[in-house]
Amino acid sequence: MSRNTKSCCSRWADRGTALLLAACLALSLGGCAPQEGERETLRLGVAVYSQDDTFIASITQELERMVQEAEVARGRKINISVVDGANNQTTQMEQIDRFLDRGYDVLLVNIVDRTAAAVLIDKAEAAGVPVIFFNRQPVAEDIDYRERVYYVGARAEESGALQGQLVLDAWRDQRMGLDRNGDGVLQYVMLEGEPGHQDSLLRTEYSVKTLTDAGVAVEKLASDAANWNRGQAAAKMSQWLEEFGDGIEVIFSNNDDMALGAIDAIRAWGGPSLLVVGVDATAPALEAVATGELYGTILNDGRGIARAMLDLALTLADGGDPGQAVELEDGHYVWLPGRRIDWSNLDEFLEE
Ligand code: BGC
Ligand code: CA
Repeated sequence: MSRNTKSCCSRWADRGTALLLAACLALSLGGCAPQEGERETLRLGVAVYSQDDTFIASITQELERMVQEAEVARGRKINISVVDGANNQTTQMEQIDRFLDRGYDVLLVNIVDRTAAAVLIDKAEAAGVPVIFFNRQPVAEDIDYRERVYYVGARAEESGALQGQLVLDAWRDQRMGLDRNGDGVLQYVMLEGEPGHQDSLLRTEYSVKTLTDAGVAVEKLASDAANWNRGQAAAKMSQWLEEFGDGIEVIFSNNDDMALGAIDAIRAWGGPSLLVVGVDATAPALEAVATGELYGTILNDGRGIARAMLDLALTLADGGDPGQAVELEDGHYVWLPGRRIDWSNLDEFLEE
């Protein structure tokens, strides 16, 4: 029995389940023992901008679950360590330094400040460690010309355009109900995420552009950043309801948490229900689609992001070809497609 296989079996035996012992036997017969060149324990360092973020927390949960599955499937210990940057780039950089000092194999980075990627990449490169950025997209110059640097996420323009299509169809199908003041113009407010985040900038732009490109006249009553946050969005929305009341015909929100904040404010206001659209498809947002309070949302595929990152990380750690593990565009990018969700196809997403 090889050294690797033996240690794998003793670790499993510690866990003491007959099932795993049987799997070990299979291993000793040449199953999933680590190949030559693979280190026994893989270390993945995950640095997120904030663990308080609903969408980001869902990605790290998926990752942790998938790592457990991969350990069993590959017969190999994978250590995943998730650290919270608490929205501070200096804190996150210190966390990255610690991962590198301790010899982590791959870094998975949800960077606090998208413009700060170059320094981080330089450090990782010097240590020979590949970096996979996710959800918060560094500028192209920092990704495109580097070796072993990747970005995994959803296309911001796409989720904006899909959100615009949800509203466009509602405008066409339910014009009487939506155009409350009957002026043929769609009056809207926009709840924006963080200033400078690609998803705030491009979702804001493309949601409205989809309507205007289709010939719909629109009027922006108000827009402001609520930093992806439910409470901040509720506060903004309360002000706008006071100012414009049901003169607001549509509420665009760059994400679901802020859409839910808008719904909180609408409930407290007690007027007619207004059309609200979000992005992410978080569990509470899907529930709100089911009750009809949220008109629709766009899938931001957190599970897909976690899957692609793990496949990429495991391949990179073993010196494999990343193009074999995931579908890579321009050698550096993995894009997860969005889907529009409303009451008509909600079941497909609730079942998951
Ligand atoms: C999500 C937001 C999240 C943000 C964090 C966006 O893609 O839609 O919910 O707060 O990423 O970076
Ligand atoms: Ca109108």
